[in-house]
Amino acid sequence: MTSTPSIIQLKTNFFSDLEKVKTERELQELRDAYLGRKRGALVALLKSISSAPIDTRPSLGKQANELKLEIDTALSDRRKNISKQTDSFNQIDVTLAGRPVELGRRHPLTILREQLESIFTGLGFEILHGPEVEDDYHNFEALNMPSEHPARDMQDTLYLETSLRSTQPNELPPTLLRTHTSGMQIRYMEDHEPPVRIIAPGLVYRRDNPDLTHSPMFQQIEGLVVGENVSMSDLKGILEVFLRNLFDRETQVMLRPSFFPYTEPSAEVFITCVFCHGAGCPVCKKTGWLEILGCGMVHPAVFEAVGYDPERYTGWAFGLGIDRVALLKYRIEDIRLFYENDLRLLEQFPY
Ligand code: DAH
Repeated sequence: MTSTPSIIQLKTNFFSDLEKVKTERELQELRDAYLGRKRGALVALLKSISSAPIDTRPSLGKQANELKLEIDTALSDRRKNISKQTDSFNQIDVTLAGRPVELGRRHPLTILREQLESIFTGLGFEILHGPEVEDDYHNFEALNMPSEHPARDMQDTLYLETSLRSTQPNELPPTLLRTHTSGMQIRYMEDHEPPVRIIAPGLVYRRDNPDLTHSPMFQQIEGLVVGENVSMSDLKGILEVFLRNLFDRETQVMLRPSFFPYTEPSAEVFITCVFCHGAGCPVCKKTGWLEILGCGMVHPAVFEAVGYDPERYTGWAFGLGIDRVALLKYRIEDIRLFYENDLRLLEQFPY
């Protein structure tokens, strides 16, 4: 028979082991080692009493039971201590009100894009999506921008590396990240006969350094209407309906002559400043007007590129930066905030 350590020895061992215990799990292991029914040291000690000399048994039994109690108390004190340390943050208070589950949200630019889309679908427009990786022909060439046009300058356009390597005359034409959504005009007209009434929302890319008002990636909406007898006054009428719907009913719309290679005549569209309502402020540079989009009557060269008869059809197009509208509408000063995914901004918009 293995000799059982004396009661004193057992007690000393237990308290020195208890010193080392740091976790609930270690505490449980210690409990098993001393009080466990099968292999517990104290249980073994109690059992061994039956083989001790008969006159020592009552006192041994009493001491062993006292030790058991002492161990029990020490274990439960230690347990309380450990759970105080580790669980003080995690304790469940069932009387507390439940914590709301956070829902994800739509991005402010998505909310705005969907709002723009619904204004235009309400006016009978169809929504068109197209590739962000575009070819030179759709992004420039067919839009009356010949190869020497400054808008094709490498400073503005992000070309794909593979297309830059292909300098041989017979190789594929260069591919690029579309610099505007205007190429969607070509893509749609190539496949459809008039009448045309579409909008094409989507991301566009430019070689710009990010600052308060520039981002190398932003969103545009292109609009295109083609038919017989489509006129510039239709364009102005639709833009007024659209912009008053988007901002407010009092919004005034002004067209100022401008230039785009794919429209003739071309115009820049201004709205009364959303900050000062036309009185003049730093945002509108004291003019009372804010530029909001570019537009014009589709250039005959564009119709020729897609095989439409410019003698028969007329049309107008416009292009609008969604981010710019969002900055004005939500009164945000820095366009970069839209691409940083900072919850402090995103949480301010509805689900
Ligand atoms: N593509 C122009 C831009 O990115 C915007 C634009 C201007 C689109 C005039 C048009 C238009 O369709 O007619 O700045």
